[in-house]
Amino acid sequence: TDPALIRNFCIIAHIDHGKSTLADRMLQITGVVEDRQMRAQYLDRMDIERERGITIKSQAVRIPFTALDDRTYTLNLIDTPGHVDFTYEVSRSLAACEGAILLVDAAQGIEAQTLANLYMALDNDLTIIPVLNKIDLPAAQPEKYAEELAGIIGCEPSDVLKVSAKTGEGVEDLLNEIVTQMTPPVGDADAPARAMIFDSVYDTYRGVVTYVRVIDGKLSPRERIQMMSTRASHEILEIGVSSPEPTKCGGLGVGEVGYIITGVKDVRQSKVGDTITALNRPATDMLEGYQEPKPMVFSGLYPIEGTDYPVLRDALEKLQLNDASLVFEPETSAALGFGFRCGFLGLLHLEITRARLEREFNLDLISTAPNVIYRVDMEDGTEHVVTNPSEFPAGKIASIYEPVVKATVLSPSEFIGQIMELCQDRRGELHGMDYLSEDRVEMRYTLPMAEIVFDFFDHLKSRTKGYASLDYEPKGEVAADLVKVDILLQGEPVDAFSAIVHKEKSYAYGVAMTKKLRELIPRQQFEVPVQAAIGARVIARENIRAIRKDVLAKCYGGDISRKRKLLEKQKEGKKRMKMVGRVEVPQEAFISALSTD
Ligand code: GTP
Repeated sequence: TDPALIRNFCIIAHIDHGKSTLADRMLQITGVVEDRQMRAQYLDRMDIERERGITIKSQAVRIPFTALDDRTYTLNLIDTPGHVDFTYEVSRSLAACEGAILLVDAAQGIEAQTLANLYMALDNDLTIIPVLNKIDLPAAQPEKYAEELAGIIGCEPSDVLKVSAKTGEGVEDLLNEIVTQMTPPVGDADAPARAMIFDSVYDTYRGVVTYVRVIDGKLSPRERIQMMSTRASHEILEIGVSSPEPTKCGGLGVGEVGYIITGVKDVRQSKVGDTITALNRPATDMLEGYQEPKPMVFSGLYPIEGTDYPVLRDALEKLQLNDASLVFEPETSAALGFGFRCGFLGLLHLEITRARLEREFNLDLISTAPNVIYRVDMEDGTEHVVTNPSEFPAGKIASIYEPVVKATVLSPSEFIGQIMELCQDRRGELHGMDYLSEDRVEMRYTLPMAEIVFDFFDHLKSRTKGYASLDYEPKGEVAADLVKVDILLQGEPVDAFSAIVHKEKSYAYGVAMTKKLRELIPRQQFEVPVQAAIGARVIARENIRAIRKDVLAKCYGGDISRKRKLLEKQKEGKKRMKMVGRVEVPQEAFISALSTD
């Protein structure tokens, strides 16, 4: 294809503002998908995506479109994931485009996540077309939000397009605007091949399918290619485009977007952001911006049934085939048995992974409270990286560093006070505040990542009646006054409950945890102290009083079969007990104590 007839674009939108619906409508209007094959959210393929209505993995689709000038253009729509955990994938999708549609719900206005992605698109010099969606809704306020958008990107309110992805109104105009406003791709057709990987998906039948955008040169079937970050080489077995079903083609040239299949079986061999070049005529410079996915949040995953351990290991290995950012290593816990310490990009990534393990592999899991990575400098000059609080180093500590994020909160201005209070409570530091319109503000904070991985978003939502939105990105690490709090049962530390918390919050954490456990752990034959301690210093204590447990007492004089039944029941209950020292703790107690609510 002549690059002059290609437009590569993506849609930047907040969850639920209608990105998938707009994509559906574009496919339908251009006849790519016939009406009767049309199903909602054609591009979202994963089950969990459908259920939660979010896009996790980006996809690309080719849309032929005959514009007002009667020429037929190839529009490549590159779908971007919408959630903060997947920022890196968003940035790679943006880098594969020349333009972006900024899609905003005309009844809601722009949200923090969208704003962050918009800034990223502007950094990448993309042409931005502002679009208000859902103008068919009675609650839509297109004039108000057109002004807001115009103020943010610096255009006239009249430049903001108004569409309804649902009814199709304005969508054809939008396609024409894409052709006229966005620039065609530029690249050197005669240079050594360079293509950027913006997505990589494992397929059971075909192995890894790698989505690429060609920058320079050409990629052809049967050619040997090289991954520039690892120097690994593979042969292209199949090359094609998604329209939207995969369709083989004879090669991809400058500006073209498509997929290649090389037979590799693991997405870590074909990583998002890497540059592909030809083995026999390699390019010298990689495309910019390649970065190894970096886990930010860690949690221990344990099978509830100990015998499921090998199943869990296989399941994690299978998921890793499709998720270059998932890391795990075996871990043993005195309380929970054999499991894995897993690293995730963020909380949503953790939740999704856990849900997939439970659903697709039929596993019942306990996950320990999520924690971030800490770096500990000791007085003797050694350094420790801590991904599991129970492995916090003993000895004299010089300083501890924790990761922080730059957070952006967008909210109606009436909630400024509540938001400030919350952020202050979470050790946040306010850097700036701007009014987007007369009644909406953008607030910028630095916050410790540990303070937001838990329930920050829930609190933000409840304090702002659901109106505030949040976005954050990692911003390095800072020294902090942190301590490790241990929870002890009868003097024995329970590793799964150790936590690293800020000194000022350690007392509250200790009190809450010991109270919770006193309620959850049944009385034993002897008294059991539940303590919270920092090192050797006990900061909170509760007692579980002793009881003579005699289930048979209840059926005094009763018949023998009833007694037997009770005894059997008790035996069964015992199996699900874990021993911590001499204390029997029911599995359920661990599960409830570790759950966040
Ligand atoms: P992701 O799955 O994250 O991509 O979300 P999304 O932005 O794609 O949202 P989606 O397309 O799933 O739309 C969210 C909801 O808004 C759905 O219930 C749609 O039916 C609805 N919706 C989308 N566009 C319109 C529109 O123009 N008008 C009306 N009334 N509803 C719309």
